[in-house]
Amino acid sequence: MLEVKGLGKRYDDHWVLQKISLSVREGEFFSLLGPSGCGKTTLLRLLAGFESLSEGEIWQDGGRIDLLPPHRRQFNTVFQKYALFPHLNVWENVAFGLRMKRVPPLELSQRVSEILALMQMDGFSKRNISTLSGGQQQRVALARALINRPRVLLLDEPLSALDLRLRRQMQVELLSLQRRLGHTFIFVTHDQEEALTLSDRIAVMNAGVIEQIGTPQEIYESPRSQFVAEFIGSMNFFEGCVQDIRDEEVILSSGASKRALLVRSPKGGIRRLPQLSSRAFARIMVRPEKLRVLKTQPSAESNFLEGMLKEVLYQGPTTRFLVGSKEGVQTYIVDQPNTAATIKKIFVPGDRVFISWLPEDGILMETHGA
Ligand SMILES: Nc1ncnc2c1ncn2[C@@H]1O[C@H](COP(=O)(O)OP(=O)(O)OP(=O)(O)O)[C@@H](O)[C@H]1O
Ligand SMILES: [Mg+2]
Repeated sequence: MLEVKGLGKRYDDHWVLQKISLSVREGEFFSLLGPSGCGKTTLLRLLAGFESLSEGEIWQDGGRIDLLPPHRRQFNTVFQKYALFPHLNVWENVAFGLRMKRVPPLELSQRVSEILALMQMDGFSKRNISTLSGGQQQRVALARALINRPRVLLLDEPLSALDLRLRRQMQVELLSLQRRLGHTFIFVTHDQEEALTLSDRIAVMNAGVIEQIGTPQEIYESPRSQFVAEFIGSMNFFEGCVQDIRDEEVILSSGASKRALLVRSPKGGIRRLPQLSSRAFARIMVRPEKLRVLKTQPSAESNFLEGMLKEVLYQGPTTRFLVGSKEGVQTYIVDQPNTAATIKKIFVPGDRVFISWLPEDGILMETHGA
């Protein structure tokens, strides 16, 4: 439905966006995720038409739209800085779009009440915008955009000012509203968990370029670069040299002890092994929840390394173990669920332990240099 082709944006001679190409389907919840300053807001402003492109094109429904003014595009925007009308109260801010469209009074009043209730702002109708907290203003901004039922809604960190509990509630409301009304959402966030939970697909951005576009599972389970791997959650790295390549398996020889580490492509096709030449340098990446800490050396089927337990961090649902490598240069992160068996205090910092993982849980990536 929406297609961005080779988009670039330059301020003076500084490129803030380069080679941005993506397409968004009708009814899709599409997120832009990346660190502060990577160009998320700039991209939204270009889509909405508040800035002009330096390079590339934007298409919608088969027609080019990047030369159209904002009001001729079918987008509504929730700005990172709310942009509410300071002289109107909450009710009038939300009702504004419907008044412009001359919606009959009864319907208008029903729709405003409904959306304010959804945003948990029903007690605030008469309040002046300047008397609201940041999170309350953010919810009014969201209500004001949602009430217009635009075909495409551009949302720039619309939940960032809310506390965690309210944020989780609003995430669910937003998702069910989007599913119910079939809106297309382009949603900016720098919160990895939020992007994973809400999105149909995510574009991970870094310093003005898109590093990867994929479903949450693809982004998390088969990141294509080290940046994506580390930006979405934590990651452990094991470096080595390719020793043997078989059908669906690769063996690396790792560390001073030349320990053999096996990687196998998982069943179900969530990822495939990259094409590597023998003797190539490569890296195995393993998520913390896929590692185990053990007191004794595990069975031959798993990969394992010996280390020293540095910290045991209780985190509620899980316990995080920080394990120093035998050579002492690296620290590995292991997250284990807190079941009755694991929360017994059997591990103490200073213990000699083994970390272990299944060959299918390693993500293999070629590296360059020795
Ligand atoms: N009008 C402008 N003139 C010059 N540089 C700009 C302008 N607007 C944005 N930039 C620069 O473009 C880069 C991207 O900014 P942008 O606001 O898109 O980042 P962002 O990903 O939305 O970050 P955040 O998560 O902090 O909101 C930044 O380095 C910013 O300084
Ligand atoms: Mg921004």
